[in-house]
Amino acid sequence: MHTAKLGPIGVFDSGYGGLTILSEIRRQLPQYDYIYLGDNARSPYGTRSFDVINDFTLQAVKYLFKQGCPLVILACNTVSAKALREIQQHYLPTCDDPSKRVLGVIRPTVEAVGEYTKTKHVGLVATPGTVSSHSYKTEVGKLFPEVHVQEQACPMWVPLVEYGESDKPGADYFVRSYTQELLKQDPLIDTLILGCTHYPLLRPKIREAIPEHIEIIAQGELVAASLDDYLHRHPEMQVRLSQGGSVSYRTTECPEKFEELASLFTGTDVDAQRVKIDQV
Ligand code: DGL
Repeated sequence: MHTAKLGPIGVFDSGYGGLTILSEIRRQLPQYDYIYLGDNARSPYGTRSFDVINDFTLQAVKYLFKQGCPLVILACNTVSAKALREIQQHYLPTCDDPSKRVLGVIRPTVEAVGEYTKTKHVGLVATPGTVSSHSYKTEVGKLFPEVHVQEQACPMWVPLVEYGESDKPGADYFVRSYTQELLKQDPLIDTLILGCTHYPLLRPKIREAIPEHIEIIAQGELVAASLDDYLHRHPEMQVRLSQGGSVSYRTTECPEKFEELASLFTGTDVDAQRVKIDQV
């Protein structure tokens, strides 16, 4: 039996995007405690190299483990695409407590794809990092080999969100240009995966920019439902989680800036604390 202290669930993103996932997780699983960590000082990750994303993610996971989290959700597609496998296969088995777990957001999203598409043509909008990893294409191919995934990198979307421009008129141009390019590549798309946790903030503009019959899959609900299911299947992890219903926000940038933008994502006031993760 595990005798370790109870701890919160860690939720990590390069910046603010993971807050869209955290909100949905907290809506479905309000009883647990959470630590949210945003590496805002070094985001965006989407255009960074594989090795750098691996290093930064490892620092974040080590930090959250040290804060007592037995379970960490990588609430970022770029990180899930580039660093999750490395962490699961090489870091976890050798860390102080190999029974800790790190989960990503791509698999739960892909599992839902089959329920949505009728034409078997699915569009993916994501960061250049996620697109170049082809993780979605690979994972969809394993579960639904008959489904074609057309990928579209949207390098300007994360900066628009990070700078609080997602609902401003300037964002329209970039939303239209990437979605039009995607639909030009594959006009049969009937399902669009928002494969970046920042993109739900652009959802109203994306909705306006694409034909009505195209279903949009956002990840929050899917990831939250999958976590719930995971905890039912893994009672040995569930009993290690503290249940005070709290959330603590940590950022590698200055907290004032984080608080301002984070409240835009969560719709509530946020109190944040600045932390250093590169020395853990
Ligand atoms: N939120 C991240 C994702 O889901 C992308 C942010 C970034 O580029 O840092 O891919």
